[in-house]
Amino acid sequence: YLVILLAFVVAVVFADIKIGVLLPLTGGISAFGEWTKKGIELAREHRPTVLGEKVVLVYADTRSEKTEAANAMARLTDKEKVVAVIGEIASSNSMAAAEIAESRKIPQVAVTSTNPLVTQGKKFVSRVCFIDPLQGTALAEFAANTLKAKKVTIFVDIEQDYSVGLTNYFTERFEGKYRGKVQKVQYKSGDQEFSAQISQAIAFGSDVIMFTGYYNEIALAAQQARAMGYKGYFIAGDGADAPELIKIGGKTVEGLYFTTHYVPEAAKTKKAKDFVESFKKKYGTLPAMNAALGYDAYMLILDAIERAKSKDPVKINNAIRSTKNFEGVSGLITIDENGNAIKPVVIVQVKNGKFTYVTSIEPAQLK
Ligand code: PHE
Repeated sequence: YLVILLAFVVAVVFADIKIGVLLPLTGGISAFGEWTKKGIELAREHRPTVLGEKVVLVYADTRSEKTEAANAMARLTDKEKVVAVIGEIASSNSMAAAEIAESRKIPQVAVTSTNPLVTQGKKFVSRVCFIDPLQGTALAEFAANTLKAKKVTIFVDIEQDYSVGLTNYFTERFEGKYRGKVQKVQYKSGDQEFSAQISQAIAFGSDVIMFTGYYNEIALAAQQARAMGYKGYFIAGDGADAPELIKIGGKTVEGLYFTTHYVPEAAKTKKAKDFVESFKKKYGTLPAMNAALGYDAYMLILDAIERAKSKDPVKINNAIRSTKNFEGVSGLITIDENGNAIKPVVIVQVKNGKFTYVTSIEPAQLK
């Protein structure tokens, strides 16, 4: 009996709460994954327990692709028995994983996956970011009003749901409300040579080139566009938002504007400022956007577990879904009836090789 009792005590005292972390840690968008991981690790340091139990993070690498995202998710739910999952980053990868979350009834909290389809019709998938209809509208308003754009060429990564969606939401607003002209040119994730698309952009007389894909291809295309003599503006969506954009693009991405979720410079609350300070202390660098949203995703899940007073994934999911005014380091997070966060769009510019805060646009301003 003593042995059984002892085993029981040990099990209770050392019980863990396992949270899965589904990220692109290798492959095309690994920079996003690494930054997110840094944010999550810091969050766990700040809050290592919930319901009196230790939180254990189980990482799963999606290798930046859809098929592996689904496999990795299944490993987390079926083998590791996690009670919730943070991730992924890219909408296409989050969507592949979401099928598994839904069928296993395990809550998934996507970090920066902005395509509406990620959560649409799903009960167990939520996110800590806004969605692309808002982002596309913000970009169109900015291009039309601030840049006085008339002709925009959009570089579309046809392998990414995010890119295709953002392109369409932008176009709807820019053509519909402002009677602007849009030309779409295509490429695929991993492409390195964009001269054909750039020639088309120049021939179109574009005053703006807009990128709706991710940082690697944006940086390369921007470089090549400047080398080919393109003199207009560059704008992009949140897929541009990794310091690696500047590392790869150098001077050629100078001046580029993009919409995103967070910039450390704009931190106002005590919590947000403390996060920036503790991040700098731990890593010796400012937090990139994905670090802040990863931090928030972890904290939001722990907050939900606490409110659920349970390790039951269904109860945790209900608590996630009823999150109201949760104070994150990226701002207040309220999860709506579709699992989406309602948050402002932040506009950032690359200035003197740094991400510089321009302005924030509230969702209500974009009706
Ligand atoms: N919003 C992009 C998507 O949905 C992903 C992303 C956002 C990646 C921000 C990095 C930074 O696919």
